[in-house]
Amino acid sequence: MSPFCCWGLCVAFLALLCCPGSGEEAFEVHVSPEQPMVKHGGSQVINCSTNCTKPENGGLETSLDKIVLQDSPQWKLFMIFNVSQNSSMRCFFWCSRKQGSKSLNVGLYYPPKQVLLKLQPTRVAVGSPFTIECRVPSVAPLEGLTVTLLRGSEVLHSQTFEGTALSPQEAMVTYSAEAQLEDSSHNFSCQAKMDLRTRGVKVVDSVSDSQALEVFGEGEPPEEVEGDSSRFSPSEEEKAIALLSAGSGGGSHGPALVPRLPSSAVSSLELSPSSQSLCKTTGW
Ligand SMILES: *[C@@H]1O[C@H](CO)[C@@H](O)[C@H](O)[C@H]1NC(C)=O
Ligand SMILES: *[C@@H]1O[C@H](CO)[C@@H](O)[C@H](O)[C@H]1NC(C)=O
Ligand SMILES: *[C@@H]1O[C@H](CO)[C@@H](O)[C@H](O)[C@H]1NC(C)=O
Ligand SMILES: *[C@@H]1O[C@H](CO)[C@@H](O)[C@H](O)[C@H]1NC(C)=O
Ligand SMILES: *[C@@H]1O[C@H](CO)[C@@H](O)[C@H](O)[C@H]1NC(C)=O
Repeated sequence: MSPFCCWGLCVAFLALLCCPGSGEEAFEVHVSPEQPMVKHGGSQVINCSTNCTKPENGGLETSLDKIVLQDSPQWKLFMIFNVSQNSSMRCFFWCSRKQGSKSLNVGLYYPPKQVLLKLQPTRVAVGSPFTIECRVPSVAPLEGLTVTLLRGSEVLHSQTFEGTALSPQEAMVTYSAEAQLEDSSHNFSCQAKMDLRTRGVKVVDSVSDSQALEVFGEGEPPEEVEGDSSRFSPSEEEKAIALLSAGSGGGSHGPALVPRLPSSAVSSLELSPSSQSLCKTTGW
């Protein structure tokens, strides 16, 4: 700093201390955006302006790398670079040898980059439970995040998050369902969407790889079988096996072959003899 600059600062400081509002032109300093959110490692344009009619000088005080993009007497456009931590900065203008300033905080956001989908198990009997787990590592803030689990284009489950913490963390959603035959004819996927439009950030979204669920087992609900269905245990897998046994007369049942059953292929199933007799008894 030049001695002249320091002298100027002192004068301004004294002016502020001893002569507030001494008939000089009142002025204001504005900054836009007021609370910018910047992607980790990204850059941001900042407009510092004043309504002082003839400002003497102005600038942006920051520890970050910056350049001046445009310069006019009443506003200056800066670009800050490589923002790797949330930091506060200050826009200032000198007007009639008084300084006015406005501070701002730059918050960082970490958009969803990776979306990891896991089906468990990946092969499941009709009616048996399976779990869809979706993890989105290193996101912040969580408040803008929505994680949506999809089967084909159908939304199975959607979850929003809360939390304004600026340190990146993992968001996770799990959802359990009972496997249905039609599950095998759609792919599952997970979408993570970060919406910080209220903070002046464009919507960012990211989608997982899609995954298929293999669903096997008989498509016929056991409740439709003649006789007492209450003797069957609640597990659909066990029901299917019980049905196969019943179908083969309870005797030596054939191989417990449980065909993989895409719903579109029900009519073209190749059935084992025991399954065929099952089909007769269940009215297929
Ligand atoms: C700047 O704006 C403030 C607040 O609106 C007002 O009080 C002041 O008179 C304005 N100054 C000038 C020079 O327009
Ligand atoms: C900067 O802000 C001032 C005051 O709002 C405005 O008049 C000016 O057009 C802005 N400059 C740019 C490049 O947006
Ligand atoms: C950004 O900052 C990191 C460390 O803070 C540095 O290694 C890197 O070179 C910088 N990148 C640019 C483009 O300035
Ligand atoms: C950045 O944000 C974190 C969490 O909100 C806070 O703890 C930290 O002090 C902030 N750092 C700066 C430089 O503002
Ligand atoms: C599921 O995804 C695989 C590979 O990603 C693709 O080959 C297959 O056609 C998809 N199936 C459906 C039903 O969309």
